[in-house]
Amino acid sequence: MYQISNIPHGSTYVSTLKDPSLVADIEFKDVTKLYGDVRAVDGMSLTIERGSFFSFLGPSGCGKTTSLRLIAGFEHPTQGGVFIGGKSVIGVPPHKRPVNMVFQHYALFPHMTVAENIGYGLRQRTPRPSKPEMARQIDEMLEMVQMSGFRSRRVWEMSGGQQQRVALARALINRPTVLLLDEPLAALDRKLRRDMQIELQTLQRDVGITFILVTHDQEEALSMSDRICIMRDGKIAQSGSPQDLYDRPVNRYVADFVGKTNFISGNVSRVNGTAVSIISERGQEFSANPSAGTQPFNVGGHANIAVRPELIVIGASTASTEDMHTDVALKGRIKNQIFLGEHTEYLVATDGIGDVLVLSPKHMEHSNGGFAPGDTVTIGWKNERALALVD
Ligand SMILES: Nc1ncnc2c1ncn2[C@@H]1O[C@H](COP(=O)(O)OP(=O)(O)OP(=O)(O)O)[C@@H](O)[C@H]1O
Ligand SMILES: [Mg+2]
Repeated sequence: MYQISNIPHGSTYVSTLKDPSLVADIEFKDVTKLYGDVRAVDGMSLTIERGSFFSFLGPSGCGKTTSLRLIAGFEHPTQGGVFIGGKSVIGVPPHKRPVNMVFQHYALFPHMTVAENIGYGLRQRTPRPSKPEMARQIDEMLEMVQMSGFRSRRVWEMSGGQQQRVALARALINRPTVLLLDEPLAALDRKLRRDMQIELQTLQRDVGITFILVTHDQEEALSMSDRICIMRDGKIAQSGSPQDLYDRPVNRYVADFVGKTNFISGNVSRVNGTAVSIISERGQEFSANPSAGTQPFNVGGHANIAVRPELIVIGASTASTEDMHTDVALKGRIKNQIFLGEHTEYLVATDGIGDVLVLSPKHMEHSNGGFAPGDTVTIGWKNERALALVD
């Protein structure tokens, strides 16, 4: 439906930005930003590759907006350096940076029309482009965000999604080489949000600019980004590709943030190179692969075992580990069942480890006939597929 990726053929926007020299890496070197006693950003070092789709992900207050504002130049680090294309931008004001920001609350100018909002950046330029030239560029942007019929509309005469696209056009008309998007889709309903996610991604690929997105929606970050930085209290908890974060989280915090996971927590009973065992609160021992985190596992210390729902098999109440080809077999009762098309999601109440989420693919449902709430079942998994994690 929405086709903001539908860039007019031969548009100057594309040709300008296809010049790779205009797009640069962004780098944080040991950046700290204090607001009084609050360490909003705390010793962060990272590189955002030019032309990539990068996301900051994390809970409220972890420093995402502050990180964007440091890139945009609305804030300056208390310590450390911010570099764009290898050059320090400390002291460089926002309008002199090749960066544009779409704010968390989209903040269109309410007294202006759509065209006036989009043209705002052009009117600030010296020399100011001629009127016909401004009109031409505004039309080009309107076409790009598929809002051509909305030129004279007022802000209050549009839906949230339409306002969002105007905000995007207003940022893009300045031809930034880096676009900073602070929760740009937060106000949209699920369906429109999904459409806009696809459009943003296509737009980013087509024009080749660097997109830096802030979100606390993990699905959004996972589906859109080349790289994700997960933040915790102003620091980087882990940064990597969506796949890295999903398959190789360094601790429970990260595993909990990316995708759905079952955790069993307890104290470490044994550690060797290839396996970590813990004793659960109910006294049962479970083993798993150690994660690649930087913190070591110590016997007696607290740790977690994470088992993704799709790695768990579900069988009849009489099934054994041999029947299921697993290392673990736990009795349980189906509490809830949600049909998701390709998968069925079960919530299974167990005695040993509480409620466990299981994602059962269609072919399994066919071979075991499926289960219904109230059924007693056995669930199991292979230890090598489970991951031991520090907190
Ligand atoms: N201007 C300011 N003055 C004082 N403290 C601030 C200021 N801006 C942010 N903070 C504090 O810095 C921390 C990080 O704020 P930031 O806005 O970067 O969080 P965020 O990750 O964007 O959160 P959210 O998801 O809620 O938008 C918070 O503790 C916040 O209260
Ligand atoms: Mg924020």
